[in-house]
Amino acid sequence: MVNLSVNINSENTSYPIFIENEEIQQTFNEIKLLLEKRNYLAVVSEKVEKLYGKILNIPREHKFVLKDGEKEKNFKNYKKITDCALKMKLTRRDAIIAIGGGVVGDLAGFVASTYMRGIDFIQVPTTLLACVDSSVGGKVAIDTDFGKNLVGAFYQPKAVFINPKFLKSLDDRQFKTGMAEVVKYSFIEKSCKCEEELNLTNFLSEKYEKILIRDEKTLLKLIEICVKLKISVVEKDEKESGLRRILNFGHTYGHAIEKITKYKKFTHGEAIVEGMKFAFNLAVKKNLIDKNYKFLADDVMKKFNFVVLPQFSLDKMIELMCADKKATSQNIVFILPTDYSAVEAFEINPKELEGILQFK
Ligand code: GLY
Repeated sequence: MVNLSVNINSENTSYPIFIENEEIQQTFNEIKLLLEKRNYLAVVSEKVEKLYGKILNIPREHKFVLKDGEKEKNFKNYKKITDCALKMKLTRRDAIIAIGGGVVGDLAGFVASTYMRGIDFIQVPTTLLACVDSSVGGKVAIDTDFGKNLVGAFYQPKAVFINPKFLKSLDDRQFKTGMAEVVKYSFIEKSCKCEEELNLTNFLSEKYEKILIRDEKTLLKLIEICVKLKISVVEKDEKESGLRRILNFGHTYGHAIEKITKYKKFTHGEAIVEGMKFAFNLAVKKNLIDKNYKFLADDVMKKFNFVVLPQFSLDKMIELMCADKKATSQNIVFILPTDYSAVEAFEINPKELEGILQFK
């Protein structure tokens, strides 16, 4: 078992992240031990409930099963879960546990952040995307009619339990969407300023076959590397006032793809892969990196057979990127590669961007 710790300087506290390859029932027993005799509400994804409900064996009165899909991360379900906690008479001493992917974690975490002004929250991510990204770092939110994640909070969990056994049942598309974020870490590793040299790019090149067959030991190591990188970033910049922005590598263009296709056609990871390719292309055109690095990055991405997306109208994409919540008043913010495994934030004026991209 790997036991990592996230130090939250603003609160002078820390929380553990356990990465363990034990039986799933064992993971849940450990959570109950941690809670001692406190009351809890587990928000469980419908898919997880179907596949692992019997093994998890959570009593019905402690469980809220949430349908799958981004559209469930809404005000209505926020209210339903809050009402459920109120009916159960959860107090500030009790806890909310999220068992599922990013939607469950974000929504249950947002309820936890507001319930009685904050109740303990435990994350059990069951998708690769949630293991390496959303379960770590305390971003919780719901979507609104005006956009995704527009109402939320930074609310750190009390503990995170990661068990790669859950990943066996992910379909290929879901697994690959997580792999997109994994590959992203390899392109930003040096900028994460982690004390330990993890060399994710080498790990991916050497182990990609084992990763693709979801060898448990390899996944355990892979998740450990990514979580260490994420911890290093969020410890230095919990509330995204600087360094944390590097985690958005590939996301400026990626979010625009998700918007233009109404979040329906492509997964988050598929859009992010395209966003990373866009960022590499832009970096070459801006002479930030040489072409060899771009070819090397293409090779890493090819190993994981990500789908190739169609071309989108540049005008429309620029318009959408300008509307991104991370854009400044006039400029679009891009995280771009500047060296092998290193990135920096750049603010680029839309007109300038058009000019750069049209220049062959
Ligand atoms: N998913 C990006 C972040 O946690 O900041």
